[in-house]
Amino acid sequence: MMFVVYMGCILLLLYYLYQKTYSYWSSRGVPFDKPFLIFGSFFDVATRKKHIFHVIRDIYDKFDTPYVGIYILNQPTLMVRSPELLKKILVKDFDKFVNRKVAVNESVDPIAAHTLFTAKDQMWRGLRAKISPVFTSGKMKLMVPLMKQCAEDLNAYLDQRAGETLEFRNVTKKYTVDIISSCAFGVSSYCLKDDNSEIMQVATKLLDLKSFVRSFSIFCFFFMPKLVDIFRLTLLDKVASDHFIKMFKSTIAERQNKNIVRNDLIDQLNNLKDNEKFTDEYKFDDIKMAAQALEFFAAGNDTTSLTISFALYELALNPTIQDRLRQELKETFAKHGDFTYDAIYEMKYLDMVVNETLRMYPLTTFLNRSTTTKYTFEETGFTLDEDVSILVPVAGLHFDAEYFPDPEKYDPERFSEENKNKIQPYTYLPFGDGPRNCIGQRFGLLVTKMALAYTVKDFAFERTAATAVPLGLDPASLFLENKTGLHMKVVKVKQ
Ligand code: HEM
Ligand SMILES: *[C@@H]1O[C@H](CO)[C@@H](O)[C@H](O)[C@H]1NC(C)=O
Ligand SMILES: *[C@@H]1O[C@H](CO)[C@@H](O)[C@H](O)[C@H]1NC(C)=O
Ligand SMILES: *[C@@H]1O[C@H](CO)[C@@H](O)[C@H](O)[C@H]1NC(C)=O
Ligand SMILES: *[C@@H]1O[C@H](CO)[C@@H](O)[C@H](O)[C@H]1NC(C)=O
Ligand SMILES: *[C@@H]1O[C@H](CO)[C@@H](O)[C@H](O)[C@H]1NC(C)=O
Ligand SMILES: *[C@@H]1O[C@H](CO)[C@@H](O)[C@H](O)[C@H]1NC(C)=O
Repeated sequence: MMFVVYMGCILLLLYYLYQKTYSYWSSRGVPFDKPFLIFGSFFDVATRKKHIFHVIRDIYDKFDTPYVGIYILNQPTLMVRSPELLKKILVKDFDKFVNRKVAVNESVDPIAAHTLFTAKDQMWRGLRAKISPVFTSGKMKLMVPLMKQCAEDLNAYLDQRAGETLEFRNVTKKYTVDIISSCAFGVSSYCLKDDNSEIMQVATKLLDLKSFVRSFSIFCFFFMPKLVDIFRLTLLDKVASDHFIKMFKSTIAERQNKNIVRNDLIDQLNNLKDNEKFTDEYKFDDIKMAAQALEFFAAGNDTTSLTISFALYELALNPTIQDRLRQELKETFAKHGDFTYDAIYEMKYLDMVVNETLRMYPLTTFLNRSTTTKYTFEETGFTLDEDVSILVPVAGLHFDAEYFPDPEKYDPERFSEENKNKIQPYTYLPFGDGPRNCIGQRFGLLVTKMALAYTVKDFAFERTAATAVPLGLDPASLFLENKTGLHMKVVKVKQ
């Protein structure tokens, strides 16, 4: 008898807690996506039935209100749909939305605590101000010779395999690991020349989303911050990151001893440290500098290599677009004698192709912010509490037919000189926007364009029976991928 009473009390308590947690939005009069038990809106993601890309699009499409309340597990999160409100959150009132809601504990994970992506408030401001000068166009121009070497290696790699059908995610990954090792760590990794490159193996471990421990850690960082402390999780694999730090330190030492100047990211970081003033709020040491180089790797490698392989995939499916791009590449190459920095920036069609690729394949399907204080939306009078997550549904905006007619169609013309002005601001966000946008945008775009220039000029990419069409997304992956990969045939074109 007593047992039944106890059980009854416990059930009532659980019901009360459940109601309290999941009435957050209804009690505030915010339109909301109905949560499913304790999984909130992401049940299909948790059970790996649907890719997060589709879940975000589905919720976005279900509503037409400026914002929608959702639950990520038990965490109330506001999905903001209206471009006008996004302008305020990302730019105008940025001061009130400075942080991403990610948990990092400096004593347990010093590397992650000192990276831009996770840093908060004053620390983020100091760090961002310091690192921004590393990515100016002047600095990018100095790195072009280093990138060119890797792009030519990529060209040679394809030349040796002309006539074959290749899996391109694997190929472009070798290229981006080569470039970032060269630019951020000052070492040549030769992934394109050597299939068993040591760096490639370590790099794969660092942020290996196929490893259960790594995926679990990353999931906790974003969704269950409490577990991060309990299990002392680190964002990146410890052995792999130690290896990178050692590499970074030895490069710095070698350069100082031999007075080597390469103008790459490592030199830029080292200059920042040398020019530090006593009064600077944020100061670098070796670990903090290595943390930056590591972050460039973690944030730039997958994003860039996937963008390149998706571009080649769409070019293979759209031969007319591919031919037109090749025409532009050949003309520009003939004019400049090489793909110089200026040559790359001169090419309008290449820019259109890359932009349309990032519209259809926005790798980070959404952006994150959180409120640093209470915030009232003037339009609706609704006041958001402090420390609430904001989700910007990039995947939803990029496929909204109102902003991008016939959104499933790959069409670079959307970004032509006459059409691009019709794109409504804050509906195209592949690199985010505002003071906390992607700091590596110029670098990522340049690396992508160099790869496309040096490959599409000399090789045709063709669809075969092995090419996955349409491309289903692997629900277990955080990125947009299909386990079967992106297979295309490489054919050398007549000069
Ligand atoms: C095509 C390639 C890339 C894409 C699509 C991409 C996309 C993004 C996006 C969407 C964000 C979040 C922006 C926001 O919240 O508003 C971001 C942040 C960031 N990205 Fe990238 N990225 C790319 C390449 C790179 C590269 C090459 C680097 C470094 C070398 C890099 C470093 C970063 C960093 C450090 C942040 C955090 C910035 C901060 O919080 O201050 N990204 N990226
Ligand atoms: C960070 O982790 C340490 C050790 O696990 C713990 O003592 C400390 O309270 C944590 N700090 C914060 C801010 O959670
Ligand atoms: C680089 O990208 C590949 C997949 O494209 C991934 O396996 C690897 O972990 C990444 N390396 C780093 C350092 O993020
Ligand atoms: C936002 O958080 C998710 C996980 O919650 C993460 O995968 C993603 O990289 C973050 N994106 C941005 C742009 O901050
Ligand atoms: C392509 O997108 C970038 C930002 O991602 C923008 O600066 C550029 O102007 C766009 N180009 C075209 C042709 O729309
Ligand atoms: C990958 O693409 C192929 C071909 O379209 C498709 O049959 C497969 O189901 C996709 N994989 C996933 C996980 O969706
Ligand atoms: C990529 O390469 C690795 C190792 O070389 C291989 O195990 C994997 O199956 C390849 N991936 C695809 C999709 O072909």
